[in-house]
Amino acid sequence: MNKKVIAIDGPAGAGKSTVSKMVAAKLGYVYIDTGAMYRAVACKVLREHKNVTDENIISIAKDIEVDLTYEDGLTKVFVDGDEVTNEIRMPLVSHVVPKVAKVGFVREKLTELQRKMASRGGVIMDGRDIATHVLPNADVKIYLTASIEERARRRCDELKAKGYETDFDSIAKEIAFRDKQDMERDLAPLIKADDATLIDSSDMTIDEVVEKILKMCTD
Ligand code: CDP
Repeated sequence: MNKKVIAIDGPAGAGKSTVSKMVAAKLGYVYIDTGAMYRAVACKVLREHKNVTDENIISIAKDIEVDLTYEDGLTKVFVDGDEVTNEIRMPLVSHVVPKVAKVGFVREKLTELQRKMASRGGVIMDGRDIATHVLPNADVKIYLTASIEERARRRCDELKAKGYETDFDSIAKEIAFRDKQDMERDLAPLIKADDATLIDSSDMTIDEVVEKILKMCTD
């Protein structure tokens, strides 16, 4: 089977990364988590500045080095050689990342890096603008979503499993707030590509979603 390029977009907590990792493992593909790259930039901004202004974001993005490594199905994230795999999932990072992601300079820099990473094929890349901007010629395009209740429930469970104290209402609010910013920004907003297949995973198991995507890859 030819090595394909698979693009998965969708709102926060839709299950993109879980599903993408499983599809990548099944096909022997590389999984590229573009959200982790935006989170990595946000992490460095928070480390070095009190205020998250466009000016501060651009000055950080100018000479940041973001790397992803993959071993045994695990992605590790590095900023200037420092591992930030856990730090990028902190609630404060989730809160400021849309502010970082709406800055043109950041998007241009990360988009170029993402295209390079996908250039050899055999990749599954997830994010917000993959099918619409980063890889418009992807072989398979999916828009994965679920109801806000289901997404908040999944994100709550995920954070609890990692030891964060959390409650459903604040997570639901945070997710809705982030989706609104991602959907309403001027540059590469979150939107379903016309030629992407919509999968609503509200009433589907993870395995069912994975099966559906694998089938699309072999059709
Ligand atoms: O995992 P989760 O759905 O919470 O989000 P993520 O994929 O880690 O992405 C974090 C944030 O990065 C998003 O809310 C967007 O603001 C931004 N992002 C983006 O603008 N474009 C992408 N291709 C990926 C993420």
